[in-house]
Amino acid sequence: MNTPTKWKVVLIDDEEDIRDVLAVALRDSGYDVIAAEDGETGLRLCEETSPQIVVTDIRMPGMDGLQVLEVLKNKTPDIEVIVATAFGEMDVAIQALQLDASDFITKPISDEALHLALKRAKARFSSKKQLRDYTALLEREKAETSQELFKTLSFQKNLIAHSIDGILGCDENKRVIIYNKSMEKMLGYESNEVLHKMTFSHFLSPGEELNFIAELEDERYGGKHKLQLYETTLKAKSGRRIPVQVSATPLFDHENVNGLVCFFRDLQETRKLEREMEDQARILHQDKMMSLGRLAASVVHEINNPLAGILNYLRLMLRILDEEQLTEERVEKFKHYLKLVENEINRCAQIVSSLLNFSRVSPPAFGEVRIKELVERCIILSQHKLELSNIQLKYSIQNGIPAVRGDFNQLQQCIINLIFNAIDAMSEGGTLTLQGHHESATGKVVIAIKDTGQGIAPDALPYIFEPFFTTKSQAFGVGLGLSTVYGIIERHNGSVDVDSQPGKGAVFTLKIPVL
Ligand SMILES: Nc1ncnc2c1ncn2[C@@H]1O[C@H](COP(=O)(O)OP(=O)(O)OP(=O)(O)O)[C@@H](O)[C@H]1O
Ligand SMILES: [Mg+2]
Repeated sequence: MNTPTKWKVVLIDDEEDIRDVLAVALRDSGYDVIAAEDGETGLRLCEETSPQIVVTDIRMPGMDGLQVLEVLKNKTPDIEVIVATAFGEMDVAIQALQLDASDFITKPISDEALHLALKRAKARFSSKKQLRDYTALLEREKAETSQELFKTLSFQKNLIAHSIDGILGCDENKRVIIYNKSMEKMLGYESNEVLHKMTFSHFLSPGEELNFIAELEDERYGGKHKLQLYETTLKAKSGRRIPVQVSATPLFDHENVNGLVCFFRDLQETRKLEREMEDQARILHQDKMMSLGRLAASVVHEINNPLAGILNYLRLMLRILDEEQLTEERVEKFKHYLKLVENEINRCAQIVSSLLNFSRVSPPAFGEVRIKELVERCIILSQHKLELSNIQLKYSIQNGIPAVRGDFNQLQQCIINLIFNAIDAMSEGGTLTLQGHHESATGKVVIAIKDTGQGIAPDALPYIFEPFFTTKSQAFGVGLGLSTVYGIIERHNGSVDVDSQPGKGAVFTLKIPVL
């Protein structure tokens, strides 16, 4: 109920004269007056018109004033009720006040007493209203604040609970008071086993704890009272040691340390990946060493022939020098021999440098790889083996073929592996075709290595790229060649395909994105 501009009064009295006189007096003073001749009517009118003030006689036939008061206060406690008692009815007046009447006036009612009582009732109504408004405001504000607080709190709780990093907080006695889901997952302890029961020390070996505390104090990892990206291990419930990276800081209450909070990142996956990468690098190296062994053997022959030739020419020239004077004609001959020697030495030098290049243990270096140069290098290294195996080489590289982005050495290893496989497949001799062109539709360079060998059985075909799959006897292969090819080409964002039928040879196709 609002403080009204015009006050409404319901006036209940069984005596018509009094009712009329009072009504006139009140209307004159600006009140809106509704009169009722008994209690029941009064209550009904109150319900219909919602007055702020009721003036009721006590002694009335039927429902008396006290009953009216009681019902009104039950239904609408804000309403102000002034009761009119006969002179000397002090006990009734007290009863009325106990029932929360605002005031009582004694009959016969004097104008002055009536106005005074009304003035007090109005003041009481207004201040009660103010109090009500104020309380409502306070309550609304309280509700809003607590809602906001609740929201913030539950957000923070969620943040901690669902953080991908493990979060562990402890009090000044190192007792764990925060332990989130990622910690549960990492260590295998449920939070109800840990919270307020275990201490931080439980998860670290004594030596590790000492190091941890020392590093927290030291400047080395992110400064004093700070530990950043420090690596250690935590003891899981299973007893396993979990490698973790931790960032930690003590919590302060003014000057005093009153806790510690740590953020742990599980390094198990990272370590696994690192191991896998090491394995891969080892396989790559192992494969390369094996190819190298085979290459070296064939290259030795390749070098032996020119060396024998060189030696022959040199010996011949020495003998001539021993025996006779150098005639004009001899000088011309010598020049010819020396030219031959130079050629042979050049060939040796080229072979040796290719072999050296291939054998160099170099970290992967991605750069511009020219296809013609790549294929030619591979040919130099395998030429002798091809000749020995009675294999004819055909090769065509499209003019102006674009370069690819890659690691020259690794791509060379791929092609050598494929050539060696082709050679192995053509034990009776045959033809090896190396072909390179640019596929403009896909923007890729295609290199095909095709042989006329025995081909691949359909039931072996799905497995040939698996490490250690081989159909060769132990002396000839371990089955790393194609898996290495696969790994390398994948790292170049390319693809390897094979097409083969038993007895009809095989073709391996590499596709590598152009630079
Ligand atoms: N050109 C090919 N013709 C027929 N079979 C082939 C050819 N290339 C590969 N294969 C088959 O695939 C298998 C796997 O080849 P991969 O190069 O991985 O190993 P490998 O040659 O047996 O041994 P490694 O290369 O380690 O010396 C071979 O054993 C062979 O059966
Ligand atoms: Mg092989």
